[in-house]
Amino acid sequence: MSVVAAIGGQWGDEGKGKVVDMLAAQARYVVRFSGGDNAGHTVVNPHGHFVLRLTPSGVFYPGTTSIIGNGVVLNPAVLNSEVDHLNSRGIDTARLLISDRANLIMPYHIAFDGLEEETLGEKAIGTTRKGIGPAFADKVARTGIRAGDLLDKNTLRERLTTVLEFKNRILTKVYGKESLSADEIYEQYCAYADRWAPRICDTTSVIAAAIERNEPVMLEGAQGFLLDPDFGTYPFATSSSPTAAGACLGSGIAPNLLTHILGIFKAYQTRVGAGPMPTELKNETGEAIRELAHEYGAVSQRPRRCGWFDAVAARFSIRINGFNSLAVTRLDVLDNMPQIRICTEYKLDGKTVDHFPASILELERCQPVYEELPGWESRINDIRDFDGLPVNARKYLLRLEELLSRPVSLISVGKSREQTIVRQSVF
Ligand code: GDP
Ligand code: IMO
Ligand code: MG
Repeated sequence: MSVVAAIGGQWGDEGKGKVVDMLAAQARYVVRFSGGDNAGHTVVNPHGHFVLRLTPSGVFYPGTTSIIGNGVVLNPAVLNSEVDHLNSRGIDTARLLISDRANLIMPYHIAFDGLEEETLGEKAIGTTRKGIGPAFADKVARTGIRAGDLLDKNTLRERLTTVLEFKNRILTKVYGKESLSADEIYEQYCAYADRWAPRICDTTSVIAAAIERNEPVMLEGAQGFLLDPDFGTYPFATSSSPTAAGACLGSGIAPNLLTHILGIFKAYQTRVGAGPMPTELKNETGEAIRELAHEYGAVSQRPRRCGWFDAVAARFSIRINGFNSLAVTRLDVLDNMPQIRICTEYKLDGKTVDHFPASILELERCQPVYEELPGWESRINDIRDFDGLPVNARKYLLRLEELLSRPVSLISVGKSREQTIVRQSVF
């Protein structure tokens, strides 16, 4: 039995789409378990170049079932356009299933996300403004509307009418905006219901039956560990858990069924949106990495903040997620660097800090302590085995393994599916 979770180890955009698309060749089920269309997962394979926001990255394999799990907040409008786009490019989405327990993103969630960010002004989180935070807030406040509610239009209308009354009060009385029409939203969501009802089901039973039949399952993380609302740079975080524990919760799989937890890390580090990042390079090197690697949001095109690999944050990520092995992506981006740095600890008020502080005020004052390694200054995109890598690239990876006490099982040396070095199978 194989149930492999692929988790972002940093601040998102680690290359989860690339890695899952490649590994899904060995899976029969691929499940998204957290976030929503705040994600943008780039996949480059023989079918072309795609940016997936909701659809699991295993969708390109005809025999693979794609599942949007209960832990996802689903905007059906985005799903419509994504699936239409995939179909128009010849990708079959007939095997896509949606958890009846997934909460839906409603128009007021998107409105509140924008209004809250505008109210915060300079203190804004820099959210993707897709309504993610407000939708998860409603989920825990027990005022959410779930995919399963689309299966009974009377329930949908009743639920919507109750919830919208509160939402309209806030919209009009707090923000001075127009109220939203229950009829219009109802009509819109009935259309989504007509399209998606046949795909909405208890996906936990589907996954359990697959595991029972010994069929390999992959859990595809969205976002990254340092955006976790408990362990990340709160409040500059997202609103669902991108962790291995979140993978179990967001898909309905018992923790003891996971057979391998793969942590995905860039060979350096990036972040979009606001919040501290100790190794951020606010200089030409940071800009050079951004331009060279085209570090701009896959969907939003927002510039990503770039910096050196942070082993303090990575060790924390490994401890909380229990990664069995690591995937290091975008190693080729460092091809032309004469020197490469790794942050091994922080200094705070002259003292050594070897843990990732909970307080962002402390984290903001942490100064990275770097170890410097020589670069390899050659092109590695076409290399397919570890021993074929330049000696300094191998030394860099081996040093990461030493600092992080975990094996690097997979190395990505380019965007496309085949530009990957597999050292150890995770299935
Ligand atoms: P995700 O959100 O974790 O799926 O990552 P994104 O798709 O948002 O961002 C990762 C970016 O890196 C995408 O543009 C990928 O095409 C690209 N990418 C992934 N792996 C590699 C790699 O090994 N080398 C290079 N040069 N690009 C890569
Ligand atoms: P993938 O899956 C990078 C960031 C946003 C913002 C914060 C909160 O592609 O790695 P939200 O809209 O979730 O309320 O925004 O989280 N963020 C991401 N950053 N990659 C992502 O997803 C992200 N999803 C959310 O930029 O700082
Ligand atoms: Mg992304």
